[in-house]
Amino acid sequence: LLWAAIGRRRKAGEPPLINGWIPFLGKALSFMKDPSTFLLSQQQKFGNIFTIHLAGKYCTFFMDPFQFVYIVRNCKQLGFQEFADKMISRSFDVPSILSTKFPELNENLHRMYQYLQGKSLDMLSEDMMKNLQQIFERKCSQATDWEAEKMYKFCCSVMFEASFITLYGRVPAADGHKVISEIRDKFTKFDANFPYLVLGIPVELLGATKKVRKELIRHFSYQNMTKWLGGSEVIQARKDLFEKYELLTVYDKAAHHFTFLWASVANTIPATFWAMYYLLRHPEALAVVRDEIDHLLQSTGQKKGPGYNIHLTREQLDNLVYLESAVNESLRMCSSSINLRLCQEDFILKLDGNQKATLRKGDLVALYPPTLHMDPEVYEDPKEYKFDRYIENGKKKTTFYKRGRKLKYFLMPFGSGSTKCPGRFFAVNEIKLFLILFVTHFDAEIVENKNLGFDNSRMGLGILLPDSDIAFRYKIKSLEK
Ligand code: HEM
Repeated sequence: LLWAAIGRRRKAGEPPLINGWIPFLGKALSFMKDPSTFLLSQQQKFGNIFTIHLAGKYCTFFMDPFQFVYIVRNCKQLGFQEFADKMISRSFDVPSILSTKFPELNENLHRMYQYLQGKSLDMLSEDMMKNLQQIFERKCSQATDWEAEKMYKFCCSVMFEASFITLYGRVPAADGHKVISEIRDKFTKFDANFPYLVLGIPVELLGATKKVRKELIRHFSYQNMTKWLGGSEVIQARKDLFEKYELLTVYDKAAHHFTFLWASVANTIPATFWAMYYLLRHPEALAVVRDEIDHLLQSTGQKKGPGYNIHLTREQLDNLVYLESAVNESLRMCSSSINLRLCQEDFILKLDGNQKATLRKGDLVALYPPTLHMDPEVYEDPKEYKFDRYIENGKKKTTFYKRGRKLKYFLMPFGSGSTKCPGRFFAVNEIKLFLILFVTHFDAEIVENKNLGFDNSRMGLGILLPDSDIAFRYKIKSLEK
């Protein structure tokens, strides 16, 4: 009973075990308070691999980035599907996609991710550019003189609306814009309690979350969605797929659409915010990025600013290396996605050299990329924002070293291996397009003198939100002749 309460015993060959003395919680509180500091302190004491008792679960952390590849490529013994499926089902009120009621739904849904790549990605990015342009034009009419706004609120309203229209289509009514704002406000309320749902806290204990979630899901009813105009291939393909499953109810299908909406904006909005915040905080970075965009527009014979439509091919977007480096640098600073796997059986994981780790069925295995992103052996002065960190001799830099050895993994905001984000290419394009349009339409500056920190409640869950919003002002640029 004692071991059940405070933890279990380490067996031969297993990594050091850290039980903690708090019954049932183990080390969960210390971990959640500040995962990076906690994990680094355990690494100092126990080495690169250790198992921690976290609220009834046993989680083995691999801290050395050279070990990551052994976890990532072992999809058979280190799966993730069932664990993620339960969490998604509970959080978004969708039925399990692994249920035998829905044969091959999981595989079919994964197949749909092809519509986030290649030609479909080009179309998505083009539509996103058009939709962002329209929203910025609307903002221009309000910003003929300095217009003050909170920066997170600004990014959230622009990115939510543009992403929504690009993916799901335009809400045709005269008050279509208002409908999307309503969905956004409900999304923000739901998202604030998302970390508690992930932790397994019953939705009934989370105030209005259950009601808000139901209302959000209802927005994606068949009747509503058929009225929305345009929209993307990926959403159309998902709609067609759901129609093939008779046992999915109307509510279930709507809940699936809401889940995808959450995945497509919940990280992109804060990532856009941080990219913009760091650029405005670092005028030298903003000047270089602005210059790079100006050069591209000039060389392609395009005028910039209000009233002019910009068109950029995928290749041109890819070639904006300073912009990309600035986006990557902000992702390095603000991403906190833990990479989890579930051991499917007792087995010995072979690692670098002669190292190995004995793992138990039912335990979790975790990689925590923020410790890599802030590792001074990999990134010099890791706490500093250096917009050109990912540039070498004027080209993209993709070689980073630790202990003199080249790293395969050095930037992991989008997860790894089989669970890597399928929307990553679109996400980076969206952020780039937002920044391109922002700097070509407006002059802007931060007007509040404070440094932002992170809202720690989402540690481990993706891109962190700022701990407060910050005021900035922007003004329309004068038109080019
Ligand atoms: C999954 C990050 C944007 C769609 C994930 C995962 C991460 C992630 C870390 C894996 C979670 C896990 O380990 O289970 C991000 C970040 C983004 C972003 C940092 C923005 C900066 C997007 C966008 C879309 C998208 C724009 C869609 C248009 C998805 C989907 C999954 C996912 C559908 C689940 C994949 C699956 O079924 O396994 N994302 N994401 N994400 N992401 Fe993203």
